[in-house]
Amino acid sequence: METLLLKGKPVSDSIRLSLEPRVQALIETGIVPKLAAIIVGDDPASKVYVRNKARAFRKLNCESQTYQLNSKSSEKDVLTVIDRLNNDPSVHGILVQLPLPNHLDSKAILHRVSPNKDVDGFHPENLGLLLEGNPNFIPCTPHGVLEILRHYDIPVSGRHAVIVGRSNIVGKPMFALLAQKFEMGNATVTICHTRTKDLASFTKQGDIIIAAAGSANMITGDMIKEGADIIDVGINRVDDDSEKGYILVGDVNTKSVMGIANSVTPVPGGVGPMTITMLLVNTVTSAEKCVELVAGW
Ligand code: GUN
Repeated sequence: METLLLKGKPVSDSIRLSLEPRVQALIETGIVPKLAAIIVGDDPASKVYVRNKARAFRKLNCESQTYQLNSKSSEKDVLTVIDRLNNDPSVHGILVQLPLPNHLDSKAILHRVSPNKDVDGFHPENLGLLLEGNPNFIPCTPHGVLEILRHYDIPVSGRHAVIVGRSNIVGKPMFALLAQKFEMGNATVTICHTRTKDLASFTKQGDIIIAAAGSANMITGDMIKEGADIIDVGINRVDDDSEKGYILVGDVNTKSVMGIANSVTPVPGGVGPMTITMLLVNTVTSAEKCVELVAGW
């Protein structure tokens, strides 16, 4: 079987293109969609993500401002910045880059972001609305996965989707989306995690596998069913002899699934390019809601 590589870039490009007229229409009403990203500390990967976000926003004529806080900042310092941004009408989206330093209570911080500006979709009100089937903001990575499935016409309805990983960022919202009664859902969904016994016995049943465990190369060809569609959400650094000293690999051992899977997303270049695109979608949508609010007055 020839295995199709599900590249994220064409999907991302077509979604970004569809955003251009929406941004233009907003600018004509005097509104520039704006994201505020808060980053606490010096995690190098987080800094790269935030820089890439800023570049993507600029390219689409949207604004993004980064609030870089010291790694020793207190919870109160972070909450003060969030409160200010919640009350700033020029800001449509607020993102707190994760992971936060260990001394901070991530839940308390994420709960403080106004649900109306929570473009990451991490606030419990937005997670609740997602579970209910009435989403406000859909978390960006799972949303990006759905858009890849949609773009490449991978059927979902009635199929068995096996998710490996139960994080609040990917695994749990992915479950809520794939099990939902709507055109990209209606799957039978299994969630596996670190305490799952005999993981392979579950992944072998998956028509769709969503690998989001954060463990390099953990899903191998002998763990999948012939013809499965595999979405690799993992981005793991593995040391090697290259100039950088590491390479990026996914949670799926891509080489070993070639010829067995129907399709697989590459790492890098699969789900990765989608996350920032879905953040753009959520921020533009949030700005449009402001216009609707003003027009309704
Ligand atoms: N860290 C890793 N992924 C994400 C994400 O989607 N949003 C935020 N805020 N932080 C992250």
